[in-house]
Amino acid sequence: MLRYPFLLLIHGVLASSSFVEPRKFSLVSRGTNLDGSVPTYKNPNASIEDRVTDLLPRMTVEEKVAQIIQGDIDGWMNANNPLDNTLVFNQSGLEAMMASKSGSIWAGYQMPYKKFVFALTVGQRYLMENTSLGIPAMFQSEGLHGFTNNGTTFPSPIGLAASFNPTLLSSVANIIATEAEGLGLSQIFAPVLDMSRELRWGRVEENYGEDPFLTGEMGLAYVTGLQNGARRNVTSGGSGGIRKRMASTCKHFTAYGSPINGLNLAPVVGSERDLRTIYLPAFQRACLESLAIMTAYASYDSVPMVANKHVLTDILRDEWQYPYWVTTDAGSVDLLITFHKTCDTRECAAKAVLENGLSGEMGGGSYTYLTLPDQVAAGTVNESLIDETVKAMLRTKFTLGLFESPYPYSDYLSTIRTPQSREVLLQMEEEAIILLQNNNNLLPLSRDISSVALIGPQANRVSFGDYVFFNASLNGITPLAGFQEFLSNSSSSTKINFAQGCELWSNDQSGFDEAVGAAQASDVAIVMVGTWSLDQTLLWTPGTNATTGEHVDLSDLSLVGAQRALIQAVVNTGKPTLVVFVSGKPVTEPWIKEHANAVIQQFYPGELGGLALAEIIFGAVNPSGKLPVSFPQSVGTTPDFYNMLNGARPQPPDPGTVFDNGTLKFGHEYVLGDPVPLWSFGHGLSYTTFSYSGLSVPRSIGTNDNFNVTVTVRNTGSIDGKEVVQVYLSDLVSSIVTPVQRLVGFQKVDLAAGASETVSIEVLSSQLALWNLNNEWAVEPGVFSIKIGSSDQVFAQANITVAA
Ligand SMILES: *[C@@H]1O[C@H](CO)[C@@H](O)[C@H](O)[C@H]1NC(C)=O
Ligand SMILES: *[C@@H]1O[C@H](CO)[C@@H](O)[C@H](O)[C@H]1NC(C)=O
Ligand SMILES: *[C@@H]1O[C@H](CO)[C@@H](O)[C@H](O)[C@H]1NC(C)=O
Ligand SMILES: *[C@@H]1O[C@H](CO)[C@@H](O)[C@H](O)[C@H]1NC(C)=O
Ligand SMILES: *[C@@H]1O[C@H](CO)[C@@H](O)[C@H](O)[C@H]1NC(C)=O
Ligand SMILES: *[C@@H]1O[C@H](CO)[C@@H](O)[C@H](O)[C@H]1NC(C)=O
Ligand SMILES: *[C@@H]1O[C@H](CO)[C@@H](O)[C@H](O)[C@H]1NC(C)=O
Ligand SMILES: *[C@@H]1O[C@H](CO)[C@@H](O)[C@H](O)[C@H]1NC(C)=O
Ligand SMILES: *[C@@H]1O[C@H](CO)[C@@H](O)[C@H](O)[C@H]1NC(C)=O
Ligand SMILES: *[C@@H]1O[C@H](CO)[C@@H](O)[C@H](O)[C@H]1NC(C)=O
Ligand SMILES: *[C@@H]1O[C@H](CO)[C@@H](O)[C@H](O)[C@H]1NC(C)=O
Ligand SMILES: *[C@@H]1O[C@H](CO)[C@@H](O)[C@H](O)[C@H]1NC(C)=O
Repeated sequence: MLRYPFLLLIHGVLASSSFVEPRKFSLVSRGTNLDGSVPTYKNPNASIEDRVTDLLPRMTVEEKVAQIIQGDIDGWMNANNPLDNTLVFNQSGLEAMMASKSGSIWAGYQMPYKKFVFALTVGQRYLMENTSLGIPAMFQSEGLHGFTNNGTTFPSPIGLAASFNPTLLSSVANIIATEAEGLGLSQIFAPVLDMSRELRWGRVEENYGEDPFLTGEMGLAYVTGLQNGARRNVTSGGSGGIRKRMASTCKHFTAYGSPINGLNLAPVVGSERDLRTIYLPAFQRACLESLAIMTAYASYDSVPMVANKHVLTDILRDEWQYPYWVTTDAGSVDLLITFHKTCDTRECAAKAVLENGLSGEMGGGSYTYLTLPDQVAAGTVNESLIDETVKAMLRTKFTLGLFESPYPYSDYLSTIRTPQSREVLLQMEEEAIILLQNNNNLLPLSRDISSVALIGPQANRVSFGDYVFFNASLNGITPLAGFQEFLSNSSSSTKINFAQGCELWSNDQSGFDEAVGAAQASDVAIVMVGTWSLDQTLLWTPGTNATTGEHVDLSDLSLVGAQRALIQAVVNTGKPTLVVFVSGKPVTEPWIKEHANAVIQQFYPGELGGLALAEIIFGAVNPSGKLPVSFPQSVGTTPDFYNMLNGARPQPPDPGTVFDNGTLKFGHEYVLGDPVPLWSFGHGLSYTTFSYSGLSVPRSIGTNDNFNVTVTVRNTGSIDGKEVVQVYLSDLVSSIVTPVQRLVGFQKVDLAAGASETVSIEVLSSQLALWNLNNEWAVEPGVFSIKIGSSDQVFAQANITVAA
């Protein structure tokens, strides 16, 4: 009898929730059942859908909306000073935060671990024990290439991709998850699956390169490695279903990587066909099991992605049946008002994003979703769409086992920076390095060489990409220190003559004399130059001069300041010269390709990058990285990705050039330039040689048949090495224009000198499909050519006929 007065009192709040009668719970004590039984949503053995269905109607509209707005631990903790270690929290701040923004909570702060664990525990315990329903929050941080509260820093994503080693990337992601999980985190904002087809864009270093297939494979490896496993105290695979231990967050969904003019956030222009064939495949491959997805800031075909019903509802939810949490990016809902100009009120923005996107709102803006309860009451927003969004969040939490394991682990220190993690890190550093050019086998250098000049602004510097914490570089080893450590262990008497030569950010040549002197005094000169990025604090601090990273876009991709002149001065000494680019994107320097004896590309490395570089240069490790992105001749020749459409480039082109002596040679493609990249996607040399034989594919298949590409690869040199077998496909005649070629499979093999291996790489019939004129996927009968090689080399070729 007491129920009815309460019902009348609370009716207003709960009016629009849909109750399943008879009600199993009291409205004032909604986290328990009237008959004393444990509510289904708290039963780990119940199915996830049953738990969701049980919990949703117990929630008020305010609780639902709080579930889909991102909170922030700065609501109850002092998060401004990374060095502060006082274990105090703000009670009223905590209560206010949890009442309005508590489904997910931003915890991407650098903080002493003890305080971090205290902060998370206070917040989570409050939710579990002091709120009616006891719904835990997902605590979130960054982890593109390492957990950003002083976790291990791995190479930047573009470097991870250069390894062409998904198994190794899975191990990397597994370590990122392990370091974060112990501290109580359950969501990491990675991987980034935007493609690097617009190289001026600052965020190229965050991607896995220019290719949809490679991006999808590396993305899947990251998602699997990060998520697989169960949190402690969580039973996986019982009647409650499969569990994951960490939510990955595929981003930025979608088409974010090709902003016009290369400017961050700028509109992306494209068609439905571009969407289907360029931007969506990597997400479809990598993210269907990812427990979260983050939307993109930009507009696509004039529709802001945050409110793009076609992409976020029709494709993601309906076609792909994606059941999990989708969140907007920081501040991106407000951009409908301030940037895209498709709304003029917060109400409009909240409604547009919620109803079209079925996604939550991240912080960093004005929290437009706080208008939703009133909009529901006024009848302007449909509560069932809030329900769908909340359900997606709850599915993610139940799949994480968060209700059973919401807290940090007391032994978290034992899972950070373990010896095994260091081994994975070092292997990834080694496999990420790409040998671009090696004239007359300058490399590897003999360990008995008497002296080496180590020159350039990257030689004594730790250059991580963006998305690392302030002071992260203190955990890294510089190339100079890496050389010293390597040489001290290999009982070598090699002398290192170091000279910085110039800065990364200035035209000052006053250090050239010293650099030239170092080169002259040495047997070989190594000049390390490139771009530079900064940590998440300094990157956003005015006056720090970064040239790559988020919101740091370039109009020219050649070396900045005095760097090329420094290389010219060193080359002019006549000493054999190795140039090492340490960068977050391709550097366009034809002069260096022409005049350096050897060139190495090291995309921003991780903590052991300086050591791995020494191992490669002195031949302790054989290079095996491949380019995940093509290197154009100049910014004016971009875009220059390998998988261009047929007809995009004359075959062969008629290039012109400006000779060193100033003479101009005129051509047509281009008048004074060359559209063929300096180095193309998939390129990367080894200290050994490989040969391919016995390529076999079926002569003929049906339109629904998968098939294997089988080939034998042999290490024909005298040292062990790893090779990436790459399979490219071309549709020789098709109803619409298709790419000249595209990567459809690859496998990295480790071969001892003289050894061979026969590899079978499966190609799915869906990989032969094109998005046809009826806006459907179709495999068209006809001849397809299969190539083993890199994008600009052919090692073996065969045709396969698809029969009608
Ligand atoms: C869930 O199932 C396991 C194994 O059958 C059992 O041990 C456990 O007690 C069950 N838990 C609940 C809350 O029913
Ligand atoms: C960063 O490193 C410097 C130099 O070691 C140190 O003085 C400073 O306290 C550090 N700051 C943080 C936030 O770790
Ligand atoms: C605690 O949080 C409340 C509510 O956000 C805020 O008004 C107050 O200033 C905070 N107190 C301190 C000491 O930060
Ligand atoms: C949670 O509730 C308990 C019991 O009422 C109370 O002692 C405790 O202070 C509350 N915790 C917070 C953080 O409000
Ligand atoms: C990060 O961790 C390392 C290794 O445990 C430690 O030496 C260093 O002081 C920490 N740095 C920061 C900024 O917390
Ligand atoms: C696991 O559950 C037990 C029993 O509830 C609890 O004592 C322990 O702290 C939990 N461990 C973790 C890591 O949550
Ligand atoms: C609210 O949305 C649901 C689900 O899309 C739909 O079935 C229902 O008709 C909508 N209600 C109104 C009033 O538009
Ligand atoms: C050099 O030797 C020391 C001591 O044995 C070891 O800790 C370190 O890992 C070695 N470094 C390299 C680059 O082999
Ligand atoms: C940035 O560049 C300016 C101008 O070249 C220079 O004065 C300044 O020292 C540089 N800042 C840093 C942090 O290197
Ligand atoms: C300039 O260099 C080009 C290419 O080496 C050569 O063909 C040409 O004769 C040179 N011109 C002069 C004036 O030296
Ligand atoms: C490809 O080869 C693998 C074994 O190497 C085999 O399991 C698979 O079934 C083959 N696929 C096709 C389509 O023949
Ligand atoms: C593949 O077919 C095309 C078109 O018929 C032909 O030009 C080409 O030589 C064939 N390639 C091979 C390797 O058989």
